[in-house]
Amino acid sequence: MFLPLIQNRRSIRKYQDKAVEETTIDLLVEALLRAPTSMGNNSWEFVVVTDTELLGQLSRAKPHGATFLKEAPLGIVVCGDPQISDIWIENSSIASIYIHLAAASLNLGSCWIQIRERQHDDTQSAEAYIADVLGLPAHVRVLSIIAIGYPDESKAPHPRDDLAWDRVFFNNHATPYPRRP
Ligand SMILES: Cc1cc2nc3c(=O)[nH]c(=O)nc-3n(C[C@H](O)[C@H](O)[C@H](O)COP(=O)(O)O)c2cc1C
Repeated sequence: MFLPLIQNRRSIRKYQDKAVEETTIDLLVEALLRAPTSMGNNSWEFVVVTDTELLGQLSRAKPHGATFLKEAPLGIVVCGDPQISDIWIENSSIASIYIHLAAASLNLGSCWIQIRERQHDDTQSAEAYIADVLGLPAHVRVLSIIAIGYPDESKAPHPRDDLAWDRVFFNNHATPYPRRP
């Protein structure tokens, strides 16, 4: 059920030392290929990574917010082709969240690692670093990496009262959405 899934969903950054089965990876790949794209142009590309050495290299794509990838058994690098779509970012973002939610539905933990607009160091973007590591063609952009594995941490769902209800308006921006208990 979708609503319980998103009510309980959290970003998980600690994973058991256990591989994700190939058949389960296949389900994740099928899920991401079912993600909608503008005009059905499928402007995304994905690199499924299970190689420990490569996961370690990818975990160093940026100084902060990616280190946990080296302990994950699986990472899916979400790319996009601006030559196919001017809104490749939207298409690839939707695919990223499809992976995150599909993983949750399979009792896997996962976390989005932002790559686009991030730096590897003072001289190289995180995208360029990953392009080197994975041998990406020059026209292919990198949006995110989704780190995935069996969870080794549990997080409480966000309480309903803590949600950002104040960001929602009703009919016009002066009227708060009438939140019901
Ligand atoms: C677009 C986007 C980029 C994110 N980038 C990172 C990241 O680079 N590293 C990280 O550890 N978490 C990242 N996250 C996860 C968020 O930090 C997380 O969703 C947020 O703190 C809320 O926690 P929750 O997902 O458990 O509800 C990202 C999430 C989104 C949606």
